[in-house]
Amino acid sequence: MNNIKIFTEENYSELSRRSAQIIKTQLDAKPASVLGLATGSTPIGTYEELVRLYKAGELDFSQVTTFNLDEYFPIAKASDQSYVFFMRKHLFDFINIPDEKINIPNGEATNHAAECDEYEKKIAASGIDLQLLGIGNNGHIAFNEPADYFPSVTHYVKLDDTTIKANSRFFQNENEVPRHALTMGIKTIMQAKKILLLASGAGKAEILCEAIFGTITPKNPASVLQLHHDVTIITDKEAGNLLIPRQ
Ligand code: PGA
Repeated sequence: MNNIKIFTEENYSELSRRSAQIIKTQLDAKPASVLGLATGSTPIGTYEELVRLYKAGELDFSQVTTFNLDEYFPIAKASDQSYVFFMRKHLFDFINIPDEKINIPNGEATNHAAECDEYEKKIAASGIDLQLLGIGNNGHIAFNEPADYFPSVTHYVKLDDTTIKANSRFFQNENEVPRHALTMGIKTIMQAKKILLLASGAGKAEILCEAIFGTITPKNPASVLQLHHDVTIITDKEAGNLLIPRQ
């Protein structure tokens, strides 16, 4: 467990502040860092805090490169459900990151296999210094859904019914949620130098506890993080409720 540091914060704001501070420490040490970024509800507070720090003159993103974990497929970049839109709305429109340093899988690609290949190669060329992750209710990280094996590199994936249901809160109804996505694979994620996983709310407590202390299995994709050498997990009180080491 020496590879996993756990911070259980009092509430979501504290979680977000701690997370942004860790990202700031990374950027202070290496201004040209490559950050892996995530979407979903959980990192929104972190992005707000990063924007606040940027506006306060405490952060500079001019040399930063980013790779997002995933994107629905197909989806128009301009759609307000796309992860391109999400990242602009919550972070990119408010900081000084150059457009050409932002990478998100292309939901408009004509050939999804070629797009995945290219995305993986681009990540391999620069490496990721710090990868931000959420965890799905089913243990997914990025869109690596529970399966019989750990998917390796960036790939096209069919979304789990539970993910479609969970993400339908962002759409008019469940039918509008795209059924597929492009996502970094487990190997892609595991190659990041550092991992920062955030979990908020009671709904994540059990799956997170299983991921950290249970069997390493592709049925709970986040469990693979037990094999990574540098993982930091930040939870609020509710999500961290069950994180008592087992004998
Ligand atoms: P959430 O999603 O942050 O919206 O809970 C996490 C995830 O699905 O990875």
